[in-house]
Amino acid sequence: MHTSNADLMTPVKLTGKYGGFSSACLGGNRILKYLILATITLTCTFVYFIYDTHTSAERVDKIHAFDASPSVSQEHEHPIGKLIRYAQAEQGRLLSRQSHDLSTAVIRYQERRGRRPPPDFNAWFDYAQKHDAIIVEEFFDRIYDDLNPFWTLEPRELRRRSGPWAHEHVISVRNRKAILKTTHADPMGRMPQWHRVVEELAQWLPDVDLPVNVMDESRLLVPWKEINERVRKEAAERRVVPPSEVRTEFTGLPAIDAEPEDEPFDVRWIGEGSYWDLLRQTCPPDSPSRNIPPIDIYHDAIDMPIAYPRHSFSGYVQNWTLSKDPCQHPRLRSLHGTFIEPVSINTTQSLIPLFGGCKLRQNNDVLFPPAMYLSTEELYAGRGDRGPEWIQKKDGVVWRGVASGGRNKAETWTHFHRHRYVQMLNGTAVHESEIGSLPAEGTTFKLPAQGHYSLVAPGNGRKHLHAGGCNKGVLDVILAGMDENYLSQRGP
Ligand SMILES: *[C@@H]1O[C@H](CO)[C@@H](O)[C@H](O)[C@H]1NC(C)=O
Ligand SMILES: *[C@@H]1O[C@H](CO)[C@@H](O)[C@H](O)[C@H]1NC(C)=O
Ligand SMILES: *[C@@H]1O[C@H](CO)[C@@H](O)[C@H](O)[C@H]1NC(C)=O
Repeated sequence: MHTSNADLMTPVKLTGKYGGFSSACLGGNRILKYLILATITLTCTFVYFIYDTHTSAERVDKIHAFDASPSVSQEHEHPIGKLIRYAQAEQGRLLSRQSHDLSTAVIRYQERRGRRPPPDFNAWFDYAQKHDAIIVEEFFDRIYDDLNPFWTLEPRELRRRSGPWAHEHVISVRNRKAILKTTHADPMGRMPQWHRVVEELAQWLPDVDLPVNVMDESRLLVPWKEINERVRKEAAERRVVPPSEVRTEFTGLPAIDAEPEDEPFDVRWIGEGSYWDLLRQTCPPDSPSRNIPPIDIYHDAIDMPIAYPRHSFSGYVQNWTLSKDPCQHPRLRSLHGTFIEPVSINTTQSLIPLFGGCKLRQNNDVLFPPAMYLSTEELYAGRGDRGPEWIQKKDGVVWRGVASGGRNKAETWTHFHRHRYVQMLNGTAVHESEIGSLPAEGTTFKLPAQGHYSLVAPGNGRKHLHAGGCNKGVLDVILAGMDENYLSQRGP
């Protein structure tokens, strides 16, 4: 892995809990392409449809509070069992919202987005359907969350904000041809990967410039106040335009390309300092992290919860988005390389259009599929062999990687997430931690308080963690917790 921040960041969601969706992905890179097509088409749309103002049709987010009341849960059911039932119900709900034909897709789009779909939506729909994509409008929320603030910028201002720094790495489409432009080194060779995808889709795309971030680290952290104002403004101005106002064609950019450039927008790049301090400015004022200063990375110990973590369900993750949200978990400032010492920082607090392959929830970069997933190089894609079908895979884990995730040092390594992962999977280290013989300066984690997880152990009431090998220990215990006998014997 070369992305130093990727572990906490969100690559575009491709696989995961929606079975059909992930099996479509296993077929190759097709889904990536169609997500890129979706992102680009939508980006183009907001540039052209900015006239779309007036009344609101605000999207209503359904937040499904998890109902764990005894009436619905089986007696003594383990929390993981409850979470599985909940996830299955949620998956069923989502899949029941699948669009199988264009007219349904249009209705769902309009309902959720409060706008008419962009020109060539039918081409996108055909493409997605031909590639076995499961089309559920909610799946694309990420794209809209990223793009919404940009609607509040006039198209001319948006263009001004994308130059001249943006010309360093840009993929352009002109007359249905994709053009790759770089004036700076692209050491990881990411641009050609993205270019290949845009090239394949260019026949459906309008003229557009896509400035791309080739760094491992995400780049934009616009303070909460500004984003909040923009998101509100966008929601208030959004509307479904009457048919007479609908445009079905893009005008292209020749006129704009011929124009003299406006006075360039002054982007102030921040290359040093605490990333945590920049991040917490993007958190809502009443969120737990907003007023918590960074730790002293050289002297402060790791700050890990020993009680149930916030937003967990009896200690287990029920909503991954919330569980990894740094605004919700101030402790992450001491537990992740991004907040200790990223390998490089080049961040701005200005809202500028910049596409990138990974980010934290708070970054304003526009997410699109990471180049490494498009790569066929052995480094990223093995030898193209992804093993047997999901159902036949073993429930074991092998983790192999380098100790990156930021710049770790002798004094700071215990704060790094990869080091913690390896140590927590090490049965010997966990055992030493239990009996108190793991030295504090060499410990990346704290064990939860006794009794919180009521783990079963054979014999003496505690699971023997001293499993040898390095992929045992905590993971063993977690997997044992999912055993059927266990579920029926023990309640939380
Ligand atoms: C998880 O939390 C996020 C953030 O609050 C929310 O938008 C989302 O709907 C939640 N997901 C589920 C499945 O409840
Ligand atoms: C930061 O990014 C900008 C825009 O990509 C670039 O012009 C500048 O040289 C970068 N600064 C450093 C120190 O790399
Ligand atoms: C596992 O932990 C023990 C005890 O702390 C340590 O000596 C050993 O090097 C660790 N093994 C790995 C693979 O990290």
